[in-house]
Amino acid sequence: MSLIHFKNVSKIYNTVVGPLTVLDNVSFEIGAGEFVSLVGKSGAGKSTLLRSLIAELAPSKGKVFFDEKDVHKMKHRDLCLLRRRIGMIFQDFKLLPDKTAFENVAFAMEVAGYSDKKIREDVPEVIKLVGLSDKMANFPVQLSAGEKQRIAIARALIQRPDIIVADEPTGNLDPINSWDIIKLLVKINELGTAVILATHVKEIINTIDKRVISLDKGRIIRDEERGKYLI
Ligand SMILES: Nc1ncnc2c1ncn2[C@@H]1O[C@H](COP(=O)(O)OP(=O)(O)O)[C@@H](O)[C@H]1O
Ligand SMILES: [Mg+2]
Repeated sequence: MSLIHFKNVSKIYNTVVGPLTVLDNVSFEIGAGEFVSLVGKSGAGKSTLLRSLIAELAPSKGKVFFDEKDVHKMKHRDLCLLRRRIGMIFQDFKLLPDKTAFENVAFAMEVAGYSDKKIREDVPEVIKLVGLSDKMANFPVQLSAGEKQRIAIARALIQRPDIIVADEPTGNLDPINSWDIIKLLVKINELGTAVILATHVKEIINTIDKRVISLDKGRIIRDEERGKYLI
């Protein structure tokens, strides 16, 4: 049984110069616990694909299933549950500036209705996992870019998602910090959470040695176990 199933998904925008196909008949499945890199040049359609997974965008054709359920037919309640099961990470971190690292992570649990006791137990644990126990009281301005991304990862993990979806998570990081984030995603995957890593950076992918789906102009041109970034 697949966790994620894209079935003949196309996304077409009507633009002033005519229709623009951004996703072109995309089909693939991802199983529970898999690590998949989604690669392709800027504009290839990676973010569009990920946004249609969380039903932020509706495809023009085709279907997207999460745990066998059509995400584009979900009602509000199921959509909220879906988005809790998918931990999103972005290039620009999206931390709340007026909350500390601890509070940024705790906030996701508060919204989900967990007790204060559970929050006090779980938050330090997940912050420890990302290696920032000594920075829990820092506000985002007091964290480096790499540290901000670690806190964003902790926030994504706190709800025990089935999958972490990282859209260009190293886009604002130098090479050393980029590596640390990739290693952290691999470690999280080894602990049992599936990962989708979308990136246009070749050097990262070619050393991970896991499945690679290559997108070019909205089409899947390659889908290989233990693949490389060849575009
Ligand atoms: N609302 C929109 N209307 C028209 N074109 C769009 C819209 N959103 C994205 N696109 C186009 O879709 C293509 C794919 O974008 P995107 O999914 O962001 O690519 P990637 O994440 O791989 O860089 C780009 O050419 C972009 O300009
Ligand atoms: Mg993108």
